Amino acid sequence: MTSRPVKITDTTLRDAHQSLMATRMRTEHMVDILEKMEEVGYYSLEVWGGATFDTCMRFLDEDPWERLWALKKVFKKTKLQMLLRGQNLVGYRHYADDVVKEFVKRAVAGGIDIVRIFDALNDTRNMEVALQEVRREGGHAQVTLSYTISPVHNIDYFADMAAKLEDMGAHSICIKDMAGLISPFDAYELVTKMKERINIPVQLHCHYTSGMASMAYLKAIEAGVDVIDTATASLALGTSQPPTDTLVAALKGTPYDTGLNQELLSEVSDYFKEVRKNYHIPLEVAMGVDTNVLSYQIPGGMISNLASQLEGQKASHLLGEVLKEVPRVREELGYPPLVTPTSQIVGTQAVFNVMLKERYKMVSSEVKNYLRGYYGRPPGPVDEELRTKILGQEEPISVRPADLLPPQLEKAKEELGDLLEKEEDLLSYVLFPQVARSFLRRRRGLEPPLEAPVKARDGKQEPKKEHQLHNIFALDANLILTDEERGITAYPA
Ligand code: CO
Repeated sequence: MTSRPVKITDTTLRDAHQSLMATRMRTEHMVDILEKMEEVGYYSLEVWGGATFDTCMRFLDEDPWERLWALKKVFKKTKLQMLLRGQNLVGYRHYADDVVKEFVKRAVAGGIDIVRIFDALNDTRNMEVALQEVRREGGHAQVTLSYTISPVHNIDYFADMAAKLEDMGAHSICIKDMAGLISPFDAYELVTKMKERINIPVQLHCHYTSGMASMAYLKAIEAGVDVIDTATASLALGTSQPPTDTLVAALKGTPYDTGLNQELLSEVSDYFKEVRKNYHIPLEVAMGVDTNVLSYQIPGGMISNLASQLEGQKASHLLGEVLKEVPRVREELGYPPLVTPTSQIVGTQAVFNVMLKERYKMVSSEVKNYLRGYYGRPPGPVDEELRTKILGQEEPISVRPADLLPPQLEKAKEELGDLLEKEEDLLSYVLFPQVARSFLRRRRGLEPPLEAPVKARDGKQEPKKEHQLHNIFALDANLILTDEERGITAYPA
């Protein structure tokens, strides 16, 4: 058999610590190992995007742009990549097109080579602007299938979507299995089907949650997958990715040999073994495997978030009922894949439904906006009775949500005034107005520094009880967002 080396994207500097320690790894804990990582031979490193942008300013008092620039100074051979939530960028709402274009431009200019673009509903309209802008800026536009299992999602659904994304101009396709749901044999079948339909590379991104990820990778490799996502051994497994070190060893001497330097890999892992001592990794995210994810189809991280949300309401005994309610709500909403922000939307509504002992007695603003079509087109049909009950005669929009949003940059520039020191500050501000303003004021010495580096879920920053139920993003570690950040005020009333 001819040699067909598998490429490795290592996620240690983004997804691994987002999954295990609520995205709290500080840049100072990264810099000393970067030169070594540059020599390992990775295809790319995922280092930016997702929750890192927000977390930097909100909890770490770091400038996310400066982190990117610091990384780019070291990595010349190894490509850098980021995760972009389509029209949501690195935030929790849809932003106007002028913001999306400017953000992509600055990210690519700042050193991002590969931009992985996804949409929680797999609504391709929400990925189009980012995709075209990455291409225009000379970046690699990797577009994503948010993988899930439901009566409306099957292998053909995803293969069709992959073909459509290739037509739209994607440079490669990522299968994003955020909950670790894909079985080895489904992975084989899906990659095989995709390879029949498309000519661009396929990358597989799995979380280890259910314990199947390494097996899924192996079968996907047999089916011809080009790139897999892994994390350094000391920050792998649990809700993180399969270990780089293991996959590299498993493929050694085969036609799929990655060619990565195993000695350096083990030095990298040793380094992060020390680093992780600085952070609290909750048992429930690091514990071996959790096959509950397969029965409820709820990501492991989400179960622990639901559990702590209920605990805050002194209702831990209701967890079992909530876990049964989540799939019901998801069905009524047309089977959205559970990933930010839909995981929070579905999860919180399920908590409401159970706690108030009457389904949809209270409806979150996000569910209303979801039914209005403000997040995009649901994958399957929405329960009509429910929609009428909540929206009455109001019709959902049929246009792309961002078509309703006026440009944001000019106005934001005025609001920010002289706090703006570099063009990137404007983007930080548009994305997270309160958080960025406060961050930029601290930089000027106009506000006292953050008290102490906040450790992941260490209890010090527990959201106030009264916020927990209504603020759906409180499901994520300590994330209390304003209405503006949640997009509640974005659309015409
Ligand atoms: Co992930």
